Formats: sequence, C-alpha cells, structure tokens
Amino acid sequence: MNKSCSKPTIVDPSRKSGRRSFLRLTSTLAGLLSFSTIGAAIARFCLPLKTRQLSSRILTLGRPREYPPGTKVQLQEGRITLLSTEDGFFAVSNTCTHLGCVLQPKKTGFICTCHGSYFNDEGSAMRGPAQRPLSWLRLGCWPNGHLYVACDEEVNTGTYFKA
Ligand code: FES
Repeated sequence: MNKSCSKPTIVDPSRKSGRRSFLRLTSTLAGLLSFSTIGAAIARFCLPLKTRQLSSRILTLGRPREYPPGTKVQLQEGRITLLSTEDGFFAVSNTCTHLGCVLQPKKTGFICTCHGSYFNDEGSAMRGPAQRPLSWLRLGCWPNGHLYVACDEEVNTGTYFKA
C-alpha cells in the first residue's frame, strides 16, 4: 500500500493567535486615534465662546492722548479693539458671539468671516447668525496715567471710560 506522505504543516496556535491579536490591537488603536482627531476638530468648531476665553492678562496701552477720538486700534493679535470716541474710551472683544471666530475689523464695525455675522462699532449684532452683542471690556488707568484693558473682565455695554 502506497500512502501519500506529504509532510504535515505544523501550526503553532499560540503564534497565529498572537499575530491576530496584534493586528486587532493596532487596528483598534488606529480607529481610536482617527475618532479622537475628528472629535477634537468638531469640538473646536462647535464649542461656544465661553470655552475659548480671552487671556486673563491686563494690557497696558500707553497714555490716553495717544488715542484721539476716532481712533480704532486692534490689540492682542486682533482679539480686542480699543475705540476712542468723544464720549470716552471703550474696548470690545473681537470674538464672535455665534461660535467664537475672531472678527475682522472694517472701517465701520466688524465682520465674521466664518458665517457672515456683522457687528457695528459698539458691538451690537446687526446681522446674524450671531444674536448677542460683543463684550465690552474693563478699561482703567494706572497711577502713572497709562491706559489699560483687562482682557477677561466684562463691563456693561455703554460703559465708556473717561481718562
Ligand atoms: S462664528 Fe458664526 S458668525 Fe461668527
């Protein structure tokens, strides 16, 4: 009798299982990494203004006479605008009250390039989707007479500072 004698393949079950586990683990980690990256991007886009606060710094701006009425100056990389008027000074946050984009100053007012909201110089929302006005920030003077703005301290709209 002639028996066909091919050599049996020896499979090490523990080795095959190890490869499978490794592949399963790496694909799971890759999936988690993808989801967390996409989730972080979505959260950054959707989180409202309060989660993207201005810094808590106080910015010293110099002497008030350096800002005659009619002056409109961007501060803190465009996140704050100081305006000088006949009624006094005021500073508005340039963070859009819709979803927190930084506004672009125009000759009059501010525009949001994210979704098109428009605010006048006093920060009132003139065109949506933003509904709330821009925050007015506290201004003051140091003992040496230099003007400052408290970047994270809001005051009521219409609170002009007279130096
Ligand atoms: S973030 Fe949507 S209009 Fe400004």
